[in-house]
Amino acid sequence: MMTHTPETDTLKIRDLSKTYGKFRALDTVSLGVDQGEFLTLLGPSGSGKTTLLMSIAGFIQPDHGQITLGGRDITHMPPEKRSFGMVFQGYALFPHLTVNDNVMFPLKMRGEKGAQAARRVAEALELVGLSDKGIRYPRELSGGQQQRVALARAIVFQPHMLLLDEPLSALDTQLRGQLQSELKRLHRAVGLTFIYVTHDQSEALSMSDRIAVMREGRLEQVGRPDDLYDRPANRFVAEFMGVENFLPPELSGGQHTLALRAHALELAAGRGRVAAHVTERDYYGAEIRYTAHTESGVPLRFKIAAGQGESLPQEGDAIGLDWQDKDALPLADH
Ligand SMILES: Nc1ncnc2c1ncn2[C@@H]1O[C@H](COP(=O)(O)OP(=O)(O)OP(=O)(O)O)[C@@H](O)[C@H]1O
Ligand SMILES: [Mg+2]
Repeated sequence: MMTHTPETDTLKIRDLSKTYGKFRALDTVSLGVDQGEFLTLLGPSGSGKTTLLMSIAGFIQPDHGQITLGGRDITHMPPEKRSFGMVFQGYALFPHLTVNDNVMFPLKMRGEKGAQAARRVAEALELVGLSDKGIRYPRELSGGQQQRVALARAIVFQPHMLLLDEPLSALDTQLRGQLQSELKRLHRAVGLTFIYVTHDQSEALSMSDRIAVMREGRLEQVGRPDDLYDRPANRFVAEFMGVENFLPPELSGGQHTLALRAHALELAAGRGRVAAHVTERDYYGAEIRYTAHTESGVPLRFKIAAGQGESLPQEGDAIGLDWQDKDALPLADH
């Protein structure tokens, strides 16, 4: 594969905005992506992930802001000149072309042919584990295989980076997990910059070098997966990272809202730090999951390992809950 130095390939997005009528799909987004990095845009539906990715690709023109690649302004450069590989949710292979010809297509468009082009197609298919499927048609492949052909087609022309918009969302859970590991492996093997879009928190955590969390067209927090998981900047990011409990200052006794994961809350022997009554009790085999509510109506979720005898609280019981300070994350107030 082509080598790129970090200096020449760093993507920088500055103050990017895009409005549709009065609606702000992107609101002053700034973000840097390093050469070779696996960066994920994570956010709920409608948060602007695709709009940002399409702006990077050049298919959407931002109203304000700038995109540079290695210091060069590409904000208004047409998509085909940017040389970015793209993979989307619906694989969109050419149905009338074989796998080989599908992967050959971007090379043909660039005027490459002959033995060298054929060798590149073979290399790309080998990278995605489909060396033996070159003469098949897309309809003769499974969904996962088709998505791998789309990947091969996106990397065969040695793009500057790979942009992936929910490429696995059409696949079932098992295949998804398998392709997640394959994508990680491919990323390491080719050393390309990947910008990956998903609304799946666990997918983002397991695959990314860094994650940019989006909400309503803005970036809420950018950081390594463990940064976001252990130190979410605010309640929105904490909720997206699966935190279940938020204790307002009146209940926590501090100055900030405290974020607490369910496993950090435990049943107190006495009154505990917070009083509540049990409103829901769900049996999950190895554990029992509880919801309790404080007097002021704040829901609290916690778990107890099964097999702890008759002392397990029942619906309606008054209980106290404790936690250790080290497990509580104080949140900024927004
Ligand atoms: N061409 C358009 N005209 C008007 N509004 C648009 C247009 N494209 C996108 N939007 C709006 O901009 C917002 C962001 O859309 P975008 O497709 O970027 O979201 P997303 O984060 O990719 O969501 P999803 O997870 O559902 O794919 C949405 O509210 C969408 O309705
Ligand atoms: Mg989208």
